[in-house]
Amino acid sequence: NLPEKVTLVEVGPRDGLQNQPHTLTPAERIAFIELLSNAGLSQIEAGSFVSPSRIPQLADTDQVFKGLAANTAVRYFALVPNVKGLEDAIDAGVKDIAVFTAASDQFTQKNINCSVEESLERIAALMPIAEQHNLRVRGYVSCTLGCPYEGQIDPERVAAVSKSLMDLGCYELSLGDTIGVGTPENARQLIRTVSKQVPLSALAAHFHDTYGQALANLYAVLQEGVAVIDSAIAGLGGCPYARGASGNVATEDVLYMLNGLGIETGVDINALLRANHYVCSHLGQPNHSKVAAALQPI
Ligand code: HMG
Ligand code: MG
Repeated sequence: NLPEKVTLVEVGPRDGLQNQPHTLTPAERIAFIELLSNAGLSQIEAGSFVSPSRIPQLADTDQVFKGLAANTAVRYFALVPNVKGLEDAIDAGVKDIAVFTAASDQFTQKNINCSVEESLERIAALMPIAEQHNLRVRGYVSCTLGCPYEGQIDPERVAAVSKSLMDLGCYELSLGDTIGVGTPENARQLIRTVSKQVPLSALAAHFHDTYGQALANLYAVLQEGVAVIDSAIAGLGGCPYARGASGNVATEDVLYMLNGLGIETGVDINALLRANHYVCSHLGQPNHSKVAAALQPI
């Protein structure tokens, strides 16, 4: 029942960098992103247009977008919270944006200073502008398998928020296990519940690996038919408003699993290792991909 092809959405340059103690320069971020594109990744989240006082690591995302070489084989996404972020993104030439909310009011308050309902209003306000500019809009729902403040989350709540985002005009929804607390049967149940409201083909999995469950959870949702997976090179990542959250599942580890399952991705593992080495050495951070560690030349 597994999909024949999976699209990997690389979130390392956004999720991976937003919580780092060391900030990369825009030129370094561009070099990092180009290495990821060269590995065959066709969808890359390259930064965010949020408050630079909240996320200084991703300030100057406009310079990153302006500096990226035109590449018709890759879609570069920007994370956008509101009309101001959207306007900045449009000025920087962005064509693909991602909007975000959560299935938890308390997390949303900490993250973007409003309730889930208000965040949907902010998204509703930016959608007509995005449409005028022919932007594609992806949606994120955070805390789909648990919240650092509210604990357990009802999958029906996730389904309702997901449906609202689709009704607002998102073409795809990425379901975030923001703090990596899910286990395979919960992840499977989440997909079964949400896919009653949103077509399965529009669902993506965005799993953090805090408790070491991400690959197992991905295998479960692949069996349910999910064919879009978010991941970050070297297992970088984390949200400053999700206490204890560690990195995203590592792109290298996901690719190794998909290769072993005979699922096509178009991504080259050796080229990923070059991006891994570049970003870890520039951040001064250890690599968190087991596959990259195993394949690294001694
Ligand atoms: P706020 O404080 O509620 O907004 O911020 P405000 O409208 O009252 O504005 C406050 C100030 O921010 C004003 O400036 C605005 O101009 C400015 P001042 O007048 O004080 O000089 N401002 C902005 N500046 C730059 N870009 C903007 C923008 N909007 C307002 N877009 C806001 C609301 C969302 C901006 C703020 O709370 C924020 O930036 N939060 C950070 C959110 C964030 O980046 N979180 C991490 C990403 S989400 C995530 O990681 C989860 C995910 O990976 C999925 C998963 O794992 O589950 C996606
Ligand atoms: Mg995330």
